[in-house]
Amino acid sequence: MSATDIIYFAGFEFNDIGNNLIIDLGSGTGRLSIASAYLRANQVIGIDFDWSAIKIFKQNIKDLGLNHLINPICTNVSNFEISKKNLPDSLKITTIMNPPFGVQKRTADRAFLLKAFNFSDTIYTIHLRNEKVHDFLSKFINKNGWKINYTFPFNMKLENTFPFHSQKKKDINVKIYRITKKEK
Ligand SMILES: C[S@@+](CC[C@H](N)C(=O)[O-])C[C@H]1O[C@@H](n2cnc3c(N)ncnc32)[C@H](O)[C@@H]1O
Repeated sequence: MSATDIIYFAGFEFNDIGNNLIIDLGSGTGRLSIASAYLRANQVIGIDFDWSAIKIFKQNIKDLGLNHLINPICTNVSNFEISKKNLPDSLKITTIMNPPFGVQKRTADRAFLLKAFNFSDTIYTIHLRNEKVHDFLSKFINKNGWKINYTFPFNMKLENTFPFHSQKKKDINVKIYRITKKEK
């Protein structure tokens, strides 16, 4: 399975993609954004601070004729804000992300989650599958007023795309988390 399966899971199992505003935090070259657009997202905003990735992302959506649906933005996730004031009440926001794992860059995934808590109705996020990560996430998510609604384990094929990837291709055990706000 690949990271894009998160979108099929969100779209078909939970109906969280179609007609929703999708925020793709750490979009890279945009594969999750593009998969969301194909599953009939209302609009997609992709955010990544890596300009070289955003340039490829922009070219990809131009080639696919998806400019009207997807808006790539080059900025740090922590700078991104969205005001719900001018959005219709009926428009739900689903945030999707495959953040850098905390083991590569400590706390990177926390910054992504904290940002997503600000504006999302539902969050889908991919993390390493192990007990320590799960315990940390459960406490962190709970402390911030959210809850883990569902998890889905899978093996993700990791391509050698970053300097810290030592093998050409690797299968890693991950979990998709579906996170929703706690009822008041
Ligand atoms: C594991 S990759 C995922 C890429 C893409 N979502 C995918 O699934 O193919 C994480 C991405 O997050 C981006 N990123 C990491 N920290 C960031 C930050 N603070 N602000 C914006 N983007 C960030 C990286 O540049 C990278 O493209």
